[in-house]
Amino acid sequence: MSTTPGPAPIRVEPERIERLWARLVTVLAPDQLRRDADTLASYARDESDSGVFPPDVVVFPRDTAQVSAVFKACVEQGVPFTPCGARTGKSGGSLPLRGGVAVSLERMNRIRSISVEDLTAVVEPGVITGDLMRAVEAVGLFYPPDPNSWESCTLGGNVAENAGGPRALKYGVTRDYVIGLEWVLPDGEVVRVGRRTIKGVAGYDLVGLFVGSEGTLGVATEITLQLIPLPRKVMTALVVFPSVLDAARGVSAVLAGGILPRCLELIDDVALRAVDGRGFTFPAGAGAAVIAEVDGASEDGLWEELSRLGDICTQQGATQTLVAQDDAQREKLWAVRRVISPALRALKPRKVSEDIVVPRSKIPEIIQRLKAMGAELGLTVATYGHAGDGNLHANILYEGPHQRHLVDEALRRMLEMTVELGGTITGEHGVGLAKREYLALEQQQPLIALQRRLKDFFDPSGLLNPEKIFPPLVRSK
Ligand code: LAC
Ligand code: ZN
Repeated sequence: MSTTPGPAPIRVEPERIERLWARLVTVLAPDQLRRDADTLASYARDESDSGVFPPDVVVFPRDTAQVSAVFKACVEQGVPFTPCGARTGKSGGSLPLRGGVAVSLERMNRIRSISVEDLTAVVEPGVITGDLMRAVEAVGLFYPPDPNSWESCTLGGNVAENAGGPRALKYGVTRDYVIGLEWVLPDGEVVRVGRRTIKGVAGYDLVGLFVGSEGTLGVATEITLQLIPLPRKVMTALVVFPSVLDAARGVSAVLAGGILPRCLELIDDVALRAVDGRGFTFPAGAGAAVIAEVDGASEDGLWEELSRLGDICTQQGATQTLVAQDDAQREKLWAVRRVISPALRALKPRKVSEDIVVPRSKIPEIIQRLKAMGAELGLTVATYGHAGDGNLHANILYEGPHQRHLVDEALRRMLEMTVELGGTITGEHGVGLAKREYLALEQQQPLIALQRRLKDFFDPSGLLNPEKIFPPLVRSK
């Protein structure tokens, strides 16, 4: 979303920053502290279009002790501090709303160990997700969570946001793979939560709470992940449908038909037209498509699964199922999926992208209602993404600021209808700043109040990543 409702956050006073700076230079080396204009500008934004919020200082700790020391110094001086990684987030979670310190975990980027016997890996938060994927695949293991930004996002960011991706359909999201964390609490205390074993139920599930806490309850300085064996074979197909409703029904029918592909990604009519001809040309008459990917032990088994999937889709109106014959063709299909977002951006000057989720049976209905809403308001609505698990990237494309009021109206209606259909306002990007005003559409006040109390309990100073997830109650100086 591109606007932040409410008044601008109050920034921290310059004198406090000076006092903090004097403390920070005693705990960090000179190359671990920045406050030049260029650095501040590049830590002022993420990929959410939620606004520009420059920090006053950026720090680059190299170990847990330094993270803890920075947190302690910030609390002591009353300066807000906000953790960040690669800044690929899509909800404004790492934006330093009130200025203060951006705590970048980028330089803690070592893969500490990979155990083939235990099927685990231990990593620092700044490791790029794609680097871990490649490292474990080289020894026959698999780390499935695959946010679209996997080539640049970090595992610490994935933990903060509980990131998902296309493979979540079969394999789940980041939380399903995190078994242990070294965690720095907002007051600088370091705790180890979780375990190194696959099973374990001792104590409360704090890993479950911290993963997805959007940088508001502390930060991971070490992450222990469980892995699975790398599937031996993968096969990818593109199923072509005459219309997006046929495609949506096809997705539901495949799942109801007892097939669980690892990905079922929808490309609607608007998205299809936007990407057509960019490295891949769709057959004549294509009005929508689904990328289906299956994996398993044998090629024969996968052929059988894809042909059943193709039959089910044909019954729902699919005109063609094109199966990639080799890795190069698979890559070509995935390139179509990856280019959707930039291609949509090229259609109109502005776009907002949502990550709503509905029960899978409701996918045809929500798409129908979103398209009708777009027609009524005179806005182009594109829906694509992880339709297999009900998680759709509904995008609103528009001309410019003069249509912003219509976009706001469309967003509210979209989120309301999502909740009405039994869904949730965010499936993988988080609430952060972008959706905090909408949380109350989905969650009742007692639940929001309980979560605010949890935040206060973990962060009594309220200085860690302030004003995220929940709308600010009172502006404090
Ligand atoms: C994707 C991002 C937007 O799936 O979540 O492309
Ligand atoms: Zn996504």
